[in-house]
Amino acid sequence: MDQPPLHVACIMDGNGRWAARRGLPRTAGHTEGEENLARVVRAAVRRNIGWLTVFGFSTENWRRPRPEVRHILGLHERLFGRVAELNELNVRVQWIGRPFDSREARTPRYVQRAIRKAVADTANNTGMVLTVAFDYGGRSELVAAVEAARHDDGAITADTIGQHLYLPDLPPVDVLVRTSGERRVSNFLLWQSAGAAIYFTETPWPDFDSDELDAALALAH
Ligand code: IPE
Ligand code: IPE
Ligand code: MG
Repeated sequence: MDQPPLHVACIMDGNGRWAARRGLPRTAGHTEGEENLARVVRAAVRRNIGWLTVFGFSTENWRRPRPEVRHILGLHERLFGRVAELNELNVRVQWIGRPFDSREARTPRYVQRAIRKAVADTANNTGMVLTVAFDYGGRSELVAAVEAARHDDGAITADTIGQHLYLPDLPPVDVLVRTSGERRVSNFLLWQSAGAAIYFTETPWPDFDSDELDAALALAH
């Protein structure tokens, strides 16, 4: 029988340590991490993964040094600019994070534009859905969902909260991956990860390859 499409979510951690080990600046680790994401997307498509969600930048990451933040912003512009590649792979891209018009949102306009364009230009693709979390925090998402649910008629239930998440159609996570030896949950998809298997690996994100992806997928069945 056909398995339903799997949802794999990755906390892409360890770019800085990957670079430090090579005597490179942290920014070089982020650059390599973005390139590795492109490789992992290809590997995930080949494995018929239905949903791949990646943590690109958290609501807490704004506290990092300004030059590092600026570099990571530029990499997201590059990532969302990979439209030709995504179309070739039949991948539909989505973004998850604090709505651009919300009070706390901090995404600069040029990244907003890149996101909107990538989402629009891949909207008709029917293969894997790649969701990039940028300016995302699980707690902020839940606060916003509960606040919205409170304004509906009737009781607040798991269903009403679920309907007010940033992306209500994002299915539950089957496997949550965290790279670089950090054996803890982060502020990522807190609601959607209930019941997920967790794959922790020592490998830093820039080195996370298709064998590692297979090891993570093995936990899902
Ligand atoms: C993950 O790598 C990328 C982001 C959080 C944007 P890190 O930058 O956290 O790398 P380490 O954890 O310092 O090695
Ligand atoms: C998690 O990595 C966030 C992203 C991968 C974007 P961090 O390095 O920011 O996480 P913590 O703060 O160590 O949990
Ligand atoms: Mg880290």
